[in-house]
Amino acid sequence: MASCCSLSFVAVSSKPNKPYSSPISSSVQLPILPFSKSSNHSLLQTQCSKIPLPNSPTFLVVGSAKKQEPLRIMISGAPASGKGTQCELITKKYDLVHIAAGDLLRAEIAADTENGRRAKEYMDKGQLVPDEIVVTMVKDRLMHPDSQEKGWLLDGYPRSLSQAVALKEFGVQPDLFILLEVPEEILVDRVVGRRLDPVTGKIYHLKYSPPETEEIAARLTQRFDDTEEKVKLRLQTHYQNVESVLSLYQDITVQVDGSVSKEEVFAQIDGALSQLLETK
Ligand code: AP5
Repeated sequence: MASCCSLSFVAVSSKPNKPYSSPISSSVQLPILPFSKSSNHSLLQTQCSKIPLPNSPTFLVVGSAKKQEPLRIMISGAPASGKGTQCELITKKYDLVHIAAGDLLRAEIAADTENGRRAKEYMDKGQLVPDEIVVTMVKDRLMHPDSQEKGWLLDGYPRSLSQAVALKEFGVQPDLFILLEVPEEILVDRVVGRRLDPVTGKIYHLKYSPPETEEIAARLTQRFDDTEEKVKLRLQTHYQNVESVLSLYQDITVQVDGSVSKEEVFAQIDGALSQLLETK
């Protein structure tokens, strides 16, 4: 799990940090991930002892209370590139708090708040909702104690340079920025076939990920912006902004081939996250 506490014994001889090398498939272009500069090992002086091992030199062994820092992950990609689908799989395995800007906005719309009414005007046109609505909404969710304690998975945010800069100013820095790459013709097909289960929140696709039972099939809903016409506008907005956001997270970006099956996409992400955890 992302966050854990363990008591371990380590040999005192310190090894220099080894350069990062990826055992993951070549479709994942992993960046050089920085090793954490801050050490989470607090030496327990009282448990320091010399343990004589038979037939071997004496090693000084110390107890180390290691509190692993929670993961902080961003996931980005064009509309219907599979962000939400991968977030389901990532949170299931890594127990991170999933914060999706689009879901927060849809919740405001469903609650018929002033922010929700304003947001819908922009979402209908496939445009970005203004920062004064989105920035505080996401920042507040990030600052919740559960996000701080378990770590977070930020989905669909930041989507513009101004949002990325605002996060930086709040001191929010991710460990990894996942970019899902999917060709445009696949994206349109995924959008029009997407359906949502209002009871479980699970994402389905009529062709690629059909509902398990007729009961679920009967209650599926479609998002108001999931039409071919609207996805073209959403794609335009994405292409206009993605480069500027990427420029801020270049060193920690991992590009993932999102055009393969959801299990294969997850395998790439899982490999990157496991490696990241080892360095934390
Ligand atoms: P948002 O809700 O974030 O929508 P989006 O970015 O357009 O992304 P989607 O949710 O459509 O797709 P996804 O990548 O999650 O794909 P999914 O996993 O569902 O934003 C909506 C609007 O809110 C924006 O247009 C904007 O107006 C506003 N907004 C949001 N964030 C904002 C921000 N930061 N600032 C300002 N405004 C903001 O998958 C799609 C379908 O494909 C599903 O049916 C799924 O089953 C299927 N599928 C997924 N993976 C695979 C696979 N590997 N193979 C086959 N099928 C797959």
